[in-house]
Amino acid sequence: ASKEEENKPIRVAVTGAAGQIGSVLCFFIAQGRMFGPYQKVILQLLELPAAEGPLKGLCLELQDGAYPLLAEIRPSTNAEEAFKDADVAVLVGAKPRGPGMERKDLLNENAKIFKVQGEALDKVAKKTVKVCVVGNPANTNALIASHYAPSIPKKNFSALTRLDQNRALSQLSDKLKTRVEDIKNVVIWGNHSLTQYPDVNHGEVIGADGKRIKIRQAVNDDNYLNDAFISRVQKRGGEIISVMKKSSAASAASAACDHVHDWWVGTKPGEFVSMAVISDNNKYGVANGIIYSFPVVCKNGEWQVVNGLNIDEFSKKKFKATEDELLEERKMALNI
Ligand code: NAD
Ligand code: LMR
Repeated sequence: ASKEEENKPIRVAVTGAAGQIGSVLCFFIAQGRMFGPYQKVILQLLELPAAEGPLKGLCLELQDGAYPLLAEIRPSTNAEEAFKDADVAVLVGAKPRGPGMERKDLLNENAKIFKVQGEALDKVAKKTVKVCVVGNPANTNALIASHYAPSIPKKNFSALTRLDQNRALSQLSDKLKTRVEDIKNVVIWGNHSLTQYPDVNHGEVIGADGKRIKIRQAVNDDNYLNDAFISRVQKRGGEIISVMKKSSAASAASAACDHVHDWWVGTKPGEFVSMAVISDNNKYGVANGIIYSFPVVCKNGEWQVVNGLNIDEFSKKKFKATEDELLEERKMALNI
């Protein structure tokens, strides 16, 4: 690529930009957390007309950050304007759940948003646009957006389960008293919900001597790994809501950066990450046509599901439970 091509800013659309997650996310992106320290960006920010004031304020503050990577800021309350020629779209704008709710309870209200935004992406975004859905229920919302954007490949639509993966890593790091970056290949399967399956079976931890040890061996407590660990990660979103009375914000923004970063820049050699993507070819026995979180590797801007992992009976049951829930959510979405 020419120098000019290399320095061309990436157009990143963020919806719900003035909300809890969006307003942190925009600063992370402007600082280079999503595309690295040299890549310029144009932020195309979408909000509801009711949030025009906070959106304007956010833009003023972004300006005042004097970020060298921030080439331009374009606020809008019109989806087609915000998605115009977008290279990346992070769809955050949606209602969050409160105490006592499950994420799928939001389907009724949020499904409509993702229909309209799918249609707008179809019309005006680049056909290569990479979409990361954060708004809940994220997997099914991504499926809806993709359904209404038939001219954009299905593989370009994803949902965020990286926050769950990061939660799993930090729990294990705490348990093992190891640095979080020394724990590899712990992944999330299925739905970003209570049925998700945080799976340590393929994970390794790098010991003080530099040797890689299987996580099961290092933890040496299958009862913990098969029970308390899984349920802590599954319920972490709810734990935060019960403490803060609102849902996670900065950790979600951080995970969205990790997700898009690895998709755009590539995963590290020998490492895989979790992304909820369209299921096809019955990989790992999962029904086709749902947005299911898999272990993936990314290269040249494309993800690929990791092949050939050994799956035990315990895991197969977990895969099925979360698949069943996604099939049920798909049915609910079709009825809306
Ligand atoms: P928030 O209410 O603080 O912000 C949402 C923003 O979206 C608001 O500013 C609102 O005006 C805007 N919005 C609503 N509808 C819109 C539309 N049609 N177009 C553009 N903007 C719109 O909520 P939040 O805490 O930032 O959470 C946003 C979503 O992300 C929620 O659905 C929440 O459950 C979800 N979430 C997902 C994860 C994940 O890991 N996948 C993590 C945390 C939160
Ligand atoms: C989370 O996991 O923190 C988010 O999905 C918010 C929620 O509703 O739990």
